[in-house]
This record gives sequence, C-alpha cells and structure tokens, in this order.
Amino acid sequence: MVKHDFAQQDFLRRLRQIPPQGMGLSVDVYSPDLFELVKKLRERGLQPGYLEVFKATTTTLTTVRQALPDMPLAYHGEGLWITQPDVQESPFFQQDVSEMVTQLNSIRSLWLNHECAMKQMAGYSFGTYLPPLYMPLSAEVVAANIATVQQVMDQQGGRPDGSAPLFLLELPPLTYFAAGTIPIPYFFRLVTALVPCGLVLDIGHLWTVYRYTAACRRLTLERFVKEFLDEFPLERVVEIHVAGLACHESVGESDREEGLPAWIDAHAVPIPSILFTMLEQVLVHPKLVSLRAVALEVDTKPIETIVEEYAVAVRRFCPVVQQTIARGMAAKRSIDLTLPSRPAQEPIVQPNRQQLRDDYARYARIISGQAPVTGPEWQEVAAEATGLTWYRASYLPHEILHWGGDLAEMFPQTCRGLAERGICLTEFVDFWFRSPRPVTRSYDFFLLKIERFLEFVAESAPEAHDYAEQEGDLLRQAYAQANEVVGPVMEMERA
Ligand SMILES: [Fe+2]
Repeated sequence: MVKHDFAQQDFLRRLRQIPPQGMGLSVDVYSPDLFELVKKLRERGLQPGYLEVFKATTTTLTTVRQALPDMPLAYHGEGLWITQPDVQESPFFQQDVSEMVTQLNSIRSLWLNHECAMKQMAGYSFGTYLPPLYMPLSAEVVAANIATVQQVMDQQGGRPDGSAPLFLLELPPLTYFAAGTIPIPYFFRLVTALVPCGLVLDIGHLWTVYRYTAACRRLTLERFVKEFLDEFPLERVVEIHVAGLACHESVGESDREEGLPAWIDAHAVPIPSILFTMLEQVLVHPKLVSLRAVALEVDTKPIETIVEEYAVAVRRFCPVVQQTIARGMAAKRSIDLTLPSRPAQEPIVQPNRQQLRDDYARYARIISGQAPVTGPEWQEVAAEATGLTWYRASYLPHEILHWGGDLAEMFPQTCRGLAERGICLTEFVDFWFRSPRPVTRSYDFFLLKIERFLEFVAESAPEAHDYAEQEGDLLRQAYAQANEVVGPVMEMERA
C-alpha cells in the first residue's frame, strides 16, 4: 500500500468518529466573557452547534466543561510549533504535548486544531503567527511532527470506543508575506499524503494568501479561490473558520495597493462581507466531502457584535452547511464499506532536518532585518518588497514594543528612567533579535517579554535594573493570579 492510501484510509477511519457539529463559534474562555456570551446567544434563541475554545489553563477548561455540560466543545491548541525541524528536541515538547492531551480530555474534544505556523524558530521568538517555509522538506517535517503528536493523542487521549482526537492542521494567515518554493495548496497536499490529519480552512487566512502572494496581481479573487481549492486537499477539510480582517495600526489604511486593503487577520473586528462570498464558493465545491463544522472565530470581539454576526450567518448559511455535511457523509458511507477496520500503518521516514534548521535560522534573520533577502524561497518576496518592508519596519517593532503587553505601561518607572538616560525603546527591538536564544520555558510571549526586557535593562542601564526587577516581579505575580481566576464561571453560577 502506498503511503498516500494509508494516510487517506486512516483519515477516513478517524473521521467516522466525528459527528456533525454544524455551525458554531471559536472563542477564548477569557475574552469576551464566555458565559455572558452564551447567555446573550440564548436570549436571542441561538444555540451554537459547538464551541471551539482556545487553549487556557486546565482548571479553567475543566470548569467550562462542567458549566456547559450539554455544549459540544472542541479545542484550539497553541504552542506546538510543528513546523519546526527541532521542535521534538525542545526540552518542553513532551510536557507541552502532555498538557495539550490533558486539556483535550478535560473538555472531551473531538479534535486538536493547530495552526500550521510558529511564533518561535531557530532560537528567535515572535508574538504572532508566522507561516512555515512552503517547501517540500518543510512539508515532510510538518507531517512527521504531526504523526508524533497524533501518536501521543492515540495513546493518552483514547476513548473507550478506541477513538482519539484528530489532529486538524489550519491554513495559517499571512502577515504581509510568504516564503517558499512551492504553491501553498500543494504544500498541504504533500502533508496530507503523509499523515492522516484533517484540515481547517480559514477563509480570512485564505484571503491573506490572495492578498500577499502574486495571485492578487494576476487573478480575480473568485478565480484565485477556484484555483486554490482545486489544488488544495479540500477533501481533508473538517472545519471551516471565518474571522475578521483589518488594517494593522502600525501599517494603517493609507498603504493601499491595487485597490486591495492591507488587511491582516483580526478577530476583534467585524467579518468583512467578502469572506462570506468566499465561504459560499467553498461550501458548494464538490471536493468538500469531510466537513463537520463551520465556526465564526470571535475571540476578543464585543459580545453584541458576535451575537449579531452569528445570527445573520446562521440564517444565511445553516441550510447549506447542513447540506454540505450531509452530502459528504452520504458519499463517505459508500466508501466506508471498502475500508479495512484499521489500515496497515507505515512509519513516516524521518526527513533530514539539518538543512531546514539552517533555512529557518535564515528566515528569522531575514524577517527581523538582520540578513539580506536571499535564497530561492525568498525570490518572490524580494521581487515584491513592500510586504516584507511593512513587516520589518512597522509590524514587528510594534509587536515587540506594544503587542501582548505595552512596555511603557508594563514598566512605567523603568521606561521613564531609560528615557532620561537617552535610551530609546527601539533599541530593545535590536536587542531582542541580536542573537538566537535557547528556549527556557513553554512559549509565553508575555513572560518572555519581561525576561528579555530585564536583560536589556541590565545591559543598557544597569543602575535602573533594581526597579526594573521590582516592576517585573509585580507583573509576574499579577499574571499568575490572572491565569488562575475563573471569574466568568462564577458569573455563570450566579446567573
Ligand atoms: Fe482560524
């Protein structure tokens, strides 16, 4: 049996354990208040088919499970950088996978959704998702890492009926650029030929692929979507996401090109209507035969906007979503008859990872402005320099200085002290990317920011280090407390 047949058959076997979820919401348990959101939805007569919840503390997720006993819950993971050739060598990998399986089990999730993206590579850390290198070797590494995670889920996340949560790999967003040597849909075809994972097709992310590749200069959006879907392994898509898009404050509305706004992924803002037009096109595609769920991804969005958007989306799309799911399930039933109960497994050949390690080290240095834009995977990016320039000059400094914790608010006294000494905070950005650093903890951008800033102060203004330490300690204490607060649940119990 060739590997592709094995992967496809094993996928179909696993898919059989996932009942239709219909339309739902992908949410964060902290923001906005999840229980207030569920209450407001119910007041409008809306009952989501499921909620996909983002990684939180296990205590909080367990409490959510208990407070919403009848609500199907699914899991949106974070922090498993399966794009990375050295992720399995990280001292925290086993611990991160174990925690993830514990959380999957705590909410009885049918799947683990994880972006095909990373926030750390080659010893460099970032605050938001970066796409993988779209290259054949990179696809092999992603597949091998998914196989390892799926194996742990099979062993530790198995249910009495023998089923286990399924790894779903999400098409990641582009933040102004993508590097690689092969088309993005073909990359996903290579991955799915090697492992039995499912996929999440995020419609907003797909729009950013159009916007930040050469496609927007040669095709209409509709034509792009058609060509993309024809090559993408759409038959593996189990879930669809739709979320907001917006111009980033560091780049702004003024930087327009060819009439297309410089939107990036933005869950807090309303969903633009063009994404619903794209969703219509996707839902009727004949290759979409494994669909089980469609979620509006609404973390950090005001509750009133979520309720309104969800009501409109359900009215417009619920019938076609149900038809699409039913059509796929009917087609699968006839296929199931020919499937063996458990296909013979072939081990994944471990790819040669050294070359890719070097490629990712160069990736990090290129996007942080420390290395020239060279190499075959960077040709297209170099030819259209605007996107990478936005990222390097505006987006990335904003991320380090303001995103996920504004340094001037986190360390007010220290920042005043630095300013008095004539030290500009942009020097911290250079310090951050000056050299690779070993990973010292499971990924947490806020804690990392505190750690690196204290190092920066120790080097650039040692006399300010004592009060920087004090401010850092207060931040860490407040953060630890905030992570254990289950305020929303208390709210629900009172309601
Ligand atoms: Fe998404």
